[in-house]
Amino acid sequence: MTTAASPLDSAQSADDDRQPALPVDVRVASADCPSLLQARLKQQVASILSAPVYDVAIETPLQPAQSLSAQLGNQVLLKREDLQPVFSFKIRGAYTRVARLSPEARARGVITASAGNHAQGLALAAQKLGIKALIVMPTTTPALKIEGVRSRGATALLHGEAFPEALTRALQLAEEHGYTFVPPFDDPDVIAGQGTVGMEVLRQQGGQLDAIFVPVGGGGLIAGIAAYVKYLRPEIRIIGVESEESNCLQAALAAGSRVVLPKIGRFADGVAVAQVGEHNFALCRHYVDEVITVSNDDICAAVRDIYDDTRSITEPSGALAVAGLKAYVAREEITDQVLVAINSGANIDFDSLRHVIERAGQCGR
Ligand SMILES: Cc1ncc(COP(=O)(O)O)c(C=O)c1O
Repeated sequence: MTTAASPLDSAQSADDDRQPALPVDVRVASADCPSLLQARLKQQVASILSAPVYDVAIETPLQPAQSLSAQLGNQVLLKREDLQPVFSFKIRGAYTRVARLSPEARARGVITASAGNHAQGLALAAQKLGIKALIVMPTTTPALKIEGVRSRGATALLHGEAFPEALTRALQLAEEHGYTFVPPFDDPDVIAGQGTVGMEVLRQQGGQLDAIFVPVGGGGLIAGIAAYVKYLRPEIRIIGVESEESNCLQAALAAGSRVVLPKIGRFADGVAVAQVGEHNFALCRHYVDEVITVSNDDICAAVRDIYDDTRSITEPSGALAVAGLKAYVAREEITDQVLVAINSGANIDFDSLRHVIERAGQCGR
């Protein structure tokens, strides 16, 4: 007698290029059967626990934000992912994905399309593992970011005026040359790598912890954090924060399925994504408590708040979580809670700072 394989037995397709057994395909078995969901969650957590991020990433501090805490009447802790070697958390997911490739796939090389933090993360991950990396970037990419990729030993190929053209070219090249395409967020291993941020937060704040605020672009960071935290401490609220100009997760949760936003704003460029990822949504719909949106002015004010507490500058996407935390405290009128915000990145061009500072100066705290 043959027994039908459970979707949990093999989450890996035949032509997958990873080492067997590790990846978790969270899209399978979408039925909301509680025991299946729990098994899937457990598998995701195991993948997070075994993610090899510390070959290249650091365990970042969870730093008390003294003046924000006093101002808001709650204890605010900042998870300083802006201190990573590539100045954002993205190295965690990119490295986990690449490190789990089979030797054959490693020998062929990796490729992605990105003008942002994922590009730097993949370049460093590939450099660390001695793998050839090609990053397709739109011709409009600022010189600083192109240099950030080249200085880490990857090849930057400039193609097309906007991201979709760069993406099409990257996928073509992957097909032609057998490179592995490393997605920025919609991938189980990328999610596992980003989930290590949640693992660290729980280790660093073992006592009272009421909510974690997470910036959302395509949903890699929040999917990983939500899975880990809800498995171990389901009482902690996981709150996504999106720019009101790119609220793709909020729209998907409201619709009950992934939607494509007709138009997105690019001020917070790291999170300017029109559609939440498929693997990401499969987790977020179960483990994210709510999504808050904030304006560009709120983001600029948060950049200033973070500067006041840390003397560090974050990029707009990197300050999103603090902006959402402030909005949540104002709405709920809570006090004496312990709230964590993920400071996700610091890659901002020096020339763009003036604009952020001007805007922060125009709005109240
Ligand atoms: C600084 C920063 N914050 C947040 C995000 C959002 O991450 P995700 O796409 O995993 O939701 C990104 C994505 O690139 C980012 O660069």
